Amino acid sequence: MKIAIIGTGYVGLVTGTCFAEMGNEVVCVDIDAAKIERLRSGKLTIFEPGLELFFERGLRERRLRFTTDLAEAVATSEVIFLALPTPPGEDGSADLSYVLGVAEDIGRLLAAEEASRYRILVNKSTVPVGTAERVRAVLEAAGLKAGQHFDVVSNPEFLREGVAVEDFMKPERVIIGTGSRRAAEIMTQLYEPFVRQGNPILVMDERSAEMTKYAANAFLATKITFMNEVANVCDRVGANVDKIRIGIGLDSRIGKHFLYAGIGFGGSCFPKDVQALARTAQAYGYDFEILEAVLRVNDRQRRLLVDRVVDYFGGDLTGRRIAVWGLAFKPNTDDVREAPSHVVIRGLLEHGAEVVAFDPEAIETTRAVLGDVVSYAEDDYAALQGADALVICTEWNEFRRPDFDRMRLLLKQPVIFDGRNLYDPVRMAEGGFDYYSIGRPHYAPVANPVSINGKA
Ligand SMILES: NC(=O)c1ccc[n+]([C@@H]2O[C@H](COP(=O)([O-])OP(=O)(O)OC[C@H]3O[C@@H](n4cnc5c(N)ncnc54)[C@H](O)[C@@H]3O)[C@@H](O)[C@H]2O)c1
Repeated sequence: MKIAIIGTGYVGLVTGTCFAEMGNEVVCVDIDAAKIERLRSGKLTIFEPGLELFFERGLRERRLRFTTDLAEAVATSEVIFLALPTPPGEDGSADLSYVLGVAEDIGRLLAAEEASRYRILVNKSTVPVGTAERVRAVLEAAGLKAGQHFDVVSNPEFLREGVAVEDFMKPERVIIGTGSRRAAEIMTQLYEPFVRQGNPILVMDERSAEMTKYAANAFLATKITFMNEVANVCDRVGANVDKIRIGIGLDSRIGKHFLYAGIGFGGSCFPKDVQALARTAQAYGYDFEILEAVLRVNDRQRRLLVDRVVDYFGGDLTGRRIAVWGLAFKPNTDDVREAPSHVVIRGLLEHGAEVVAFDPEAIETTRAVLGDVVSYAEDDYAALQGADALVICTEWNEFRRPDFDRMRLLLKQPVIFDGRNLYDPVRMAEGGFDYYSIGRPHYAPVANPVSINGKA
């Protein structure tokens, strides 16, 4: 099939590359000329495991190409995906100006065609209920007839950054929201190669498809937040949230996933989608109370470690050097949008600390946001040299089994604030570390530490 993807960011690039891998002819469009130039020259613009292989193959075999020319892409494609930003507007509701603006451009282009061919316009962006109808109205205003010249489909994307390629190639479900049988058939054909193991393609009405995406993200954000609240109570009553996670996760009604307590959720989706769903509910006269609480609790949770570090050092961090491990909002990505690490870093700086940070992939993306108010270390150990404490913000694999003896020697004092519960608190105390984690007991470090390398 001939496919155009409008918006070549995290979702657009993964979507385009994976469709090309399945044999489709894909053209990816973006207004960012530098991004398109880089992609054309064979260089990826995001870090995403597994993407490079498909990207290189797509380019080599000419099934994947990149352009800034929307008109040319629209002219040559049957299915046009919109993978455009839907950032929060001032009141927290989704800003649809990108989606509706491009829909207008496409409407103009299709209306100007001599012999008009049928197209499917697919919303892959996360968009509020009613957006498919608004996109359809935009195209109709350009003189096009729904069902004859075009159909609009809501096809929300559920990929997770860090495992995006795997998720796209083997989705647990594909949601196709449309009232058009013709569009549903074409979309089903397009996705069939991705669900050969039997996962379902669910065809539903547009509004339900749009709502499914928000409900999924809002539920997941709520699940994490619930566990963060449980962890905060554990801290106070002397229980261990790790034990509770396993204890409740074995209940099949609850499930094992998404029960890890930490320093709050971030990323480009959860914070904005939770807000947007709360605003949609409000616009329809309903107060979605849980979501307002999720947002409040998450804001508090992201500041938790700062308060702990400040308390530990007696209320002032002036003259303190704090090492931060992990900048990406989660492992295996370079994405730092709404990253808890940035909230932590800003908080530490506000209290007078000097911050030296390390991340395996997200230093450049962080530099683009925070600039040089922090210094960036060459590797994880270099960040520790002469630091008064270490704060862990992202659970990268390489932080899970470090050389603890080396860490103890490099740190000015062996103090760790772990926002991701990577190590065993008892072993850390045996290794001489003053180790604080989330929702788990703290043990006083022993006076004569033993080596815990390979254990903690
Ligand atoms: N990132 C995720 O994990 C994820 C997962 C599922 C859904 N989504 C949703 O997908 C959508 C896109 O998210 P993303 O993370 O890929 O965003 P992104 O910011 O990484 O990418 C958006 C791209 O669109 C481009 N763009 C902006 N205006 C344009 C225009 N007029 N014409 C062409 N290109 C234009 C930007 O330059 C950018 O490259 C959002 O609605 C998001 O909520 C994201």
